[in-house]
Amino acid sequence: MSKKLKIGIIGAGTIGKTHMRAIKESGVSEVAAICDPDAKILEAAGNEYGVAPRYPSAKAMLKKASLDAVVVATPNSVHCPEAVAAFKAGMHVLCEKPTALNAAEARKMVAAANKADKILQIGMVVRYDGESMLAKEYIEDGLLGRIYHMHLILRRRRGIPGLGGWFTTHEHSGGGALIDCGVHYLDLLMWLSDSWNPQRVSASLYSKFGPRMKNYLYHGKMWAGPPNYKGTFNVDDYAGGMIRFADNKTLTFEVSWAANCKQENYVELLGDKGGMRLHDGNAPVLYTEHNNHVADIHPQFEKKDGFVAQHQAFAKAVTGKTPCIVPGEQGVALMSVIDAIHKSSEQNKEVAVRLS
Ligand SMILES: NC(=O)c1ccc[n+]([C@@H]2O[C@H](COP(=O)([O-])OP(=O)(O)OC[C@H]3O[C@@H](n4cnc5c(N)ncnc54)[C@H](O)[C@@H]3O)[C@@H](O)[C@H]2O)c1
Repeated sequence: MSKKLKIGIIGAGTIGKTHMRAIKESGVSEVAAICDPDAKILEAAGNEYGVAPRYPSAKAMLKKASLDAVVVATPNSVHCPEAVAAFKAGMHVLCEKPTALNAAEARKMVAAANKADKILQIGMVVRYDGESMLAKEYIEDGLLGRIYHMHLILRRRRGIPGLGGWFTTHEHSGGGALIDCGVHYLDLLMWLSDSWNPQRVSASLYSKFGPRMKNYLYHGKMWAGPPNYKGTFNVDDYAGGMIRFADNKTLTFEVSWAANCKQENYVELLGDKGGMRLHDGNAPVLYTEHNNHVADIHPQFEKKDGFVAQHQAFAKAVTGKTPCIVPGEQGVALMSVIDAIHKSSEQNKEVAVRLS
């Protein structure tokens, strides 16, 4: 393996380009090739980041380019097939979130990685944020004591991405708000509290704004837009519910792309020694007791570019310097929770999480 990790990008769209920037800035890897079936996107991304080896498909890139690893940055329905093909070609894989459309696909990816003896790292970039890392350090140092409940609030008021495009078409995305942005913070809380043993879920998914199509009122530029009113919206734009873990730990969540409520974003962890609130747009807070007083501690922390830190961690995992921070197995656990949320909503009752 050369000094810098040679990485191929599968999918040169919005987040594929973010990876290209982050790889350049990481100092440990280089973008050795890119592929995308959309010739215009391929050319624009290649020119912007000065990458000459460009291919119309992952198949062609995997065959011809000399690579150590790939980043899968395609619509969610393509994660599993392209990751499995990359493992068969002998590559390590950094796959964007969500791991796949469902847990069955995520398991296939883990099996392919194990068979090839390669790393599968999932793109849970929020974990690398300075405040996430600070919270992990505090929790590992025992400052929260035993964590027993967690809150996830991610309420976008009008934030449906690419209405009518792949994000809002179940066949390509596997779901809406929950699988798109909810996954980041569900993963964060499960990682922070080391909760890889989900047991039962009671949840409901709603689809109230997207189906209005032309009558969906929003302001400004649509992320992943503009809307395609002839396209499909058959996913959730609001998800709410509760997850029970094996060790009497619970997590309640509310995630929306669109809802008539105050726009808000935060996660909270409640422990018997301390609690923490983070990712609300302000500095994180530790709620605790100090010298016989109830106290709020506002620690300073180092801000980090999560995408750059993610690539530095990936290079370390691939070269065996440190274990993979977001292994595929954790992606399977998270997708199992998401599958259970869908099932609970469909059946209108609490359901068991099927982990294998
Ligand atoms: N980590 C994050 O914060 C974050 C943010 C946004 C999106 N994402 C994830 O990144 C992925 C891509 O999202 P996006 O916003 O960049 O979408 P996008 O539509 O902008 O880009 C996807 C690209 O993949 C290409 N593509 C489709 N099939 C392909 C194939 N078989 N081989 C190669 N290229 C293919 C498309 O032509 C397109 O250019 C999704 O899984 C999404 O959930 C992650």
